[in-house]
Amino acid sequence: MAAAVACLRAGGLVGLPTETVYGLAALAQSEDAVRRVFSVKGRPADHPLIVHLAQASQLPQWGRDVPEYAQRLAWRLWPGPLTLVVPKQESVPDLLTGGQDSVGLRVPSHPVALTVLTGCGPLAAPSANRFGRVSPTSAAAVAEELATHLDERDLILDGGDCAVGIESTIVDCTGGSPRVLRAGFYSDDVLEEASGVALSQPQGVGAVPRVSGSLAAHYAPRTQVTLMSAGDVSALPDSRVRTAWLLAMSSEQVAAEVAPRRATRPGTADEYARTLYATLRSADHSDVAEVIAVPPLGGGIAVAVRDRLRRASAGSGSQTAT
Ligand code: TXA
Ligand code: MG
Repeated sequence: MAAAVACLRAGGLVGLPTETVYGLAALAQSEDAVRRVFSVKGRPADHPLIVHLAQASQLPQWGRDVPEYAQRLAWRLWPGPLTLVVPKQESVPDLLTGGQDSVGLRVPSHPVALTVLTGCGPLAAPSANRFGRVSPTSAAAVAEELATHLDERDLILDGGDCAVGIESTIVDCTGGSPRVLRAGFYSDDVLEEASGVALSQPQGVGAVPRVSGSLAAHYAPRTQVTLMSAGDVSALPDSRVRTAWLLAMSSEQVAAEVAPRRATRPGTADEYARTLYATLRSADHSDVAEVIAVPPLGGGIAVAVRDRLRRASAGSGSQTAT
């Protein structure tokens, strides 16, 4: 962690563990380092980055006229898997915000991330994957995504497997009430309870430009991902199931005669989220022709898992990495 702080201070990039997914971090105040984040990721310049802070008390340095409900969210749910989009202070560079007049802020709860943030100050960090691909949830996955694009100035910190496994909930706090831009760990109920106000309804995919996670085909592996119910899986021909990887909750009943060679059977929606990206990644390394996923039912993080599965399915099956 000390080496990571030194690396960041010298303008290098760090693959940084957080509780959601690994980030590719640069000192928020270093324009050159932040520019390299965009090129290493292959990310369009108008996509804003999340600025990671060590503590909620730093919110007023970045956000201007932050609504009271947003302050309540920050104080109640930070550190944690939550990003707040708030009106930005004039001093916040356009490079970080994609030219928008708002900035995304988050205090992660991973102890390694907090230690590094305390040592070197605010860090701009998108997920540490190439643009459009599956977010990394381990240090090895960061290396797989980015090693050929990083150089001797940079390093990857190993903080173990991410506890949440999917990206933070993003809440737009620029209006009269909070609005979820990207589903995540926190359910609407928790957000309403913590903010003290009712959520505005989401405006749907495409209504919010420049939230890259809102593109239909995002978080996509190369292997084809197909979504279906357990009943439909049971009706598939044996030839198709034998070459596939089945991903379904252990509570889902799949006919016994359907015998996939490989199956991942999370017992809870939390476990589904935690293992989802690693499963998609291993499928890309294997000879399976298809991942057949039965989405988890219910609210809370299951909503976010269904969202990521839909996007993985929309963008999957392409042989060309972006
Ligand atoms: O869990 C996470 O949020 C991870 C970890 C590393 O913190 N980070 C992450 O960053 O997922 P990224 O860049 O892959 O996704 C952040 C999303 C992007 O879709 C970006 O467009 C959106 O946040 N975003 C950031 N600032 C925004 C703003 N001012 N307005 C609207 N969307 C914003
Ligand atoms: Mg991302």
